[in-house]
Amino acid sequence: MKVQIDSQLCQGHGRCYDLAPDLFGEDDEGYATLTALTADGNVPEGREGDIRLAAANCPESAVLVHEE
Ligand code: F3S
Repeated sequence: MKVQIDSQLCQGHGRCYDLAPDLFGEDDEGYATLTALTADGNVPEGREGDIRLAAANCPESAVLVHEE
C-alpha cells in the first residue's frame, strides 16, 4: 500500500496526524506531511488500517491511498 498527501487539497484539519502521529506530521502551518515512517510513500506493514482511518477522516480527501 502506498500513501501520499495531496498538498493542493490539504487544508490543515489535522485529523490525519491526530489519529496517526507517527505516520503523519505537520508543517509550520499545520498542513500534513509524511514522517520518517512514510516518507518514501510506502505504508509500514500492519499499519494499513491506520492509514485507511486517516484517509477516511480527512474532510478534504487529501490523504491519497493506493492499494496494491
Ligand atoms: Fe490535511 Fe486532511 Fe490531514 S486536510 S492535515 S490531510 S486531515
